[in-house]
Amino acid sequence: MKFFIDTAEVSEIKKWADYGFLDGVTTNPSLIAKSGRNFLDVIKEICDLIDSPVSAEVAALDHDTMMKEAEVLKEIAPNVVIKLPTTLDGLKSCRQLTAMGVKTNLTLCFSTNQALLAAKAGATYVSPFIGRLDDINLDGMHLIRDIRRVFDNYGFGTEILAASIRTPNHVSDAAIAGADVATIPAATLEKLAKHPLTDKGLDAFVADWKSTGQSIL
Ligand code: E4P
Repeated sequence: MKFFIDTAEVSEIKKWADYGFLDGVTTNPSLIAKSGRNFLDVIKEICDLIDSPVSAEVAALDHDTMMKEAEVLKEIAPNVVIKLPTTLDGLKSCRQLTAMGVKTNLTLCFSTNQALLAAKAGATYVSPFIGRLDDINLDGMHLIRDIRRVFDNYGFGTEILAASIRTPNHVSDAAIAGADVATIPAATLEKLAKHPLTDKGLDAFVADWKSTGQSIL
């Protein structure tokens, strides 16, 4: 499974890219607002840092303006992926951008039918939002499993990008369910390698090694 980081903070992207397991970045208007920075500057800076896919979201709700915004965004760098809402206007824009060879990410997907439409529109990625479904007492992971099954039934190439990830369990469960990508906030990435038994085991190894009085170097 590929790991994207879900952030508009360039310092976080740099940190996780340096570990070598970052396969892309997703941003959204809320993350841009939180950064307090100019949207186009942030996307340019991220694309200067990494060659992998960087999702930049249109702000418009209508097809014509979405296409105009996509024109601006796609010129920033070849690795920009145009993020569109999973609405009829977003799907229409997806179809046209796909025909132009532009990569797309259909966001705010909350149902199997929306994912099916995204695949039929030729989307590169579809982003089912796990956490926001869990928030309203529905089962986000169930949606990932259903979409995986439907895409496999028909051989759709659209990648399932598990989004709205809130916990380490969301990451492992999405991997088990067959998501192609998970976009993960930095705080959750931080927790993935943590295990109390790893820490406890290391404490013991460090103490025992010290007692030998030896040095490898
Ligand atoms: C995905 O592309 C979105 O930016 C993100 O995962 C939304 O997560 P949230 O529901 O925690 O805001």
